[in-house]
Amino acid sequence: MEGTLSPLPALRAILAPRGEQRLRRGHPWVYRSDLLELPQRAGIGTVLAPDGEVLTTALLNPDSQIAVRDLGRDWSERALEERLERALALRSALHIDGDAYRLVHGEGDRLPGLVIDRYGEVLVIQNGAAGFEPQLEGVIRWLAQRLAPRGVLARHDQASREREGLPRECRVLLGEVPQQLQVWEAGLQLLVDPYRGQKTGAFLDQRETRQRLGQLAHGDALDVFCYQGAFAVHLARSPAVRSLRCVDTSLPALRQAAANLARNGVGPQRARLVRANAFRELPELAAKGQRFQTINLDPPALARKRADLPAAYRAYRELNRRALALLDVGGLLCSSSCSFHLAPTLLEQLVAEAAADLGQSLRVLERRAQSADHPELLGVPETRYLKTILVERIR
Ligand SMILES: C[S@@+](CC[C@H](N)C(=O)[O-])C[C@H]1O[C@@H](n2cnc3c(N)ncnc32)[C@H](O)[C@@H]1O
Repeated sequence: MEGTLSPLPALRAILAPRGEQRLRRGHPWVYRSDLLELPQRAGIGTVLAPDGEVLTTALLNPDSQIAVRDLGRDWSERALEERLERALALRSALHIDGDAYRLVHGEGDRLPGLVIDRYGEVLVIQNGAAGFEPQLEGVIRWLAQRLAPRGVLARHDQASREREGLPRECRVLLGEVPQQLQVWEAGLQLLVDPYRGQKTGAFLDQRETRQRLGQLAHGDALDVFCYQGAFAVHLARSPAVRSLRCVDTSLPALRQAAANLARNGVGPQRARLVRANAFRELPELAAKGQRFQTINLDPPALARKRADLPAAYRAYRELNRRALALLDVGGLLCSSSCSFHLAPTLLEQLVAEAAADLGQSLRVLERRAQSADHPELLGVPETRYLKTILVERIR
């Protein structure tokens, strides 16, 4: 039977030496180019070393760049439930201050390709691995039994599904899922659109950093790439923040940001929403002599593939330079990058270069990553995709 170690699953892949080395070093992915023999189809199967030794069980897909996603030798039908239970146990142990969080984070929970986000009573699921698709039924059954959600939505509209040979769709799998959900985060209310919002509706990976920045922010604050105002509500809550300016190119995102701010008692006299391209807006503000004491930069991934890195590095550096040009001495810059190709050291380097270019000195207050409900696998850089540096201008 597929999904168990005994009897052996019919599907198999044979690794080339480079693939074997990678897997033995603890990386859960092997690329198609590092296979000697491809599996016949997508599914769960056995992975063999070049000499025929059985190494592990994995999600296999001959049509995907990532042809092998390791499930571990201990994979079985029961392992699915055990891993879901462990994922849930971790989130309870984290004492998350809010009811919107990531319940399952793919490889970080030993469930490759699977994401489950919880928005209060509603769950949003995304599966990005063809080999896992037949397991979804079992996942939904477990979710229904353990969490009794009001509804489960499959946000299977991401482009990566096509690369796996999977259909793209957005479909309610269980119960009912309203168009707008109201969740809370550290005592603040946020509206989320699970059908059309980015990712599964919101950027849950920045939850902890939003809270932290809200605690440290002061003066006139600028939230660049504000999306639906999730950082803005935290910034606006602080009595130390005098005014807030939020910038994004997306009109629907800004409308939702206005609604989120209003829900939390922040009116247009305190928070201004501006539809603009950040790369142009920042120098325009500088030309008008505007200065800020808190700036948040949370751009979209500028390096989506490795080849984009040199250009993305220059774009991130320029963006940070334009932001720093608006920052007063004593002011804070919270600068993030969600491109996993841009290593944390590179983010620090480009912020340092931007500061040096302006003759500024920055001190590091914090180095941050994605929230703890998006666990990273040590030694697997792809799983540490979000990094943030929080600096203070001291000169
Ligand atoms: C990573 S999201 C921001 C997430 C947000 N900070 C949060 O915590 O919910 C990036 C945002 O940048 C916006 N965006 C993309 N390119 C932009 C540009 N050139 N100027 C301004 N906004 C842009 C997108 O519309 C999107 O809302």
